[in-house]
Amino acid sequence: MREVWVVGAASNRYGKLAETAREAATRVAAEAIRDAGLEPKQIGHTFVANCFGLTEHQAHVGPLINNGLGIPEVPSVTLESACSSSSAALHEAFVHVAGGFADAALVVGAERLGHLDTMSATGYFAYAADYPFETKNGATFPGLYATLADAYRHAYRTTPEMFGAIAVKNHANAARNPHAHFQKEISMQTYLDSPMIASPLRLYDCCPFSDGAAAMVVAAPDAFPRPANEPLVVRASVRTGAVTALQDRSDLLGLPSTQRAGKEAFRRAGLEPRRIDFLEVHDCFTIAEALALEDLGFFPRGSAARESLEGTTARDGRLPVNPSGGLKAKGHPVSATGAGQVVEVFEQVNGRAPGREVPRTGTALTHNVGATGGSCTVHIFSRR
Ligand SMILES: CC(C)(COP(=O)(O)OP(=O)(O)OC[C@H]1O[C@@H](n2cnc3c(N)ncnc32)[C@H](O)[C@@H]1OP(=O)(O)O)[C@@H](O)C(=O)NCCC(=O)NCCS
Repeated sequence: MREVWVVGAASNRYGKLAETAREAATRVAAEAIRDAGLEPKQIGHTFVANCFGLTEHQAHVGPLINNGLGIPEVPSVTLESACSSSSAALHEAFVHVAGGFADAALVVGAERLGHLDTMSATGYFAYAADYPFETKNGATFPGLYATLADAYRHAYRTTPEMFGAIAVKNHANAARNPHAHFQKEISMQTYLDSPMIASPLRLYDCCPFSDGAAAMVVAAPDAFPRPANEPLVVRASVRTGAVTALQDRSDLLGLPSTQRAGKEAFRRAGLEPRRIDFLEVHDCFTIAEALALEDLGFFPRGSAARESLEGTTARDGRLPVNPSGGLKAKGHPVSATGAGQVVEVFEQVNGRAPGREVPRTGTALTHNVGATGGSCTVHIFSRR
């Protein structure tokens, strides 16, 4: 396998957008290619993530983005892996470049949901659960993650403040991120006073519905030895699957797909969790951040929420987690989310995150989950 680098990256500001997912993806993809110092014609394959294009009357968006970039002859695939779609796209691009099928590939994820009301968006999202068993019986993602949060708080001695600390920290980080949907800090009292959405999850335990687009270019250093930016070396790119429906799982105190992906990623990278300088993890709900940190091996089971309250995961803490603001506050435009996590790592490493810098940027990990863990992707990056 050839070494693979991330050599350019771009993102728009998440939130409610006027442009379509296709338009946003094309614009951000062009920016990422420019950022990499390449021409569109140097891209050998494009990997495009988009889940809800049908709500905009647009499927098969990949070739249309290539049309917009002026490279209609370049092959493209449009991928769907629920909330982990664009990290799955990065994995496919990695395999392609590492295997020598392309010297450079574009990864872009885009989603637009702002034209849907909360009820409709919740309904569309729920199709990513197990339809006959979960969705058809009324399950929604806030409800499914509330089930995991309930199991956690009954198994361990937690307080609402422990989960509140995750929300307060991620809002504080997002307030310093120009790409973030919510650029405002919240207090613990604001968290505690916020309305209940699906007990025990309150408003500020939940990510919002966001529109957004994020893109990156990956390339082989033997073909492009002089990158325009400090590249991210992809040390591991791992995808896993797991039993999808919660009722078929034996353990609700973790996500098996994350546990396996983390273990395999550390094995391939030849690193241990203590060697990671900062992380972007999938915090669609605050409980998800706690579970991710335990499943990936950063904290013992039952302790991650408490560590957040103690400040361990703050930007200036021992292990900065979600310096971007995470899904909770940077936002969760489904198919852009995984690529957006890598944009954050790229910006941190290239000194483009003023006001939200983490102290050390030698190694980073990104973790992106599909639904309640039916799929998971973990990447580990390091500097050259
Ligand atoms: C939590 C949730 C139900 C709130 O939806 P809602 O009650 O319809 O909220 P609205 O869109 O009417 O917004 C009302 C206000 O709350 C804010 N808001 C909405 N969602 C928010 C969130 N998750 N966190 C913080 N603030 C939020 C809005 O910005 C708005 O603020 P404003 O009055 O200052 O403009 C919705 O955001 C949600 O379902 N989130 C989860 C999405 C999800 O399941 N994703 C998949 C994960 S696997």
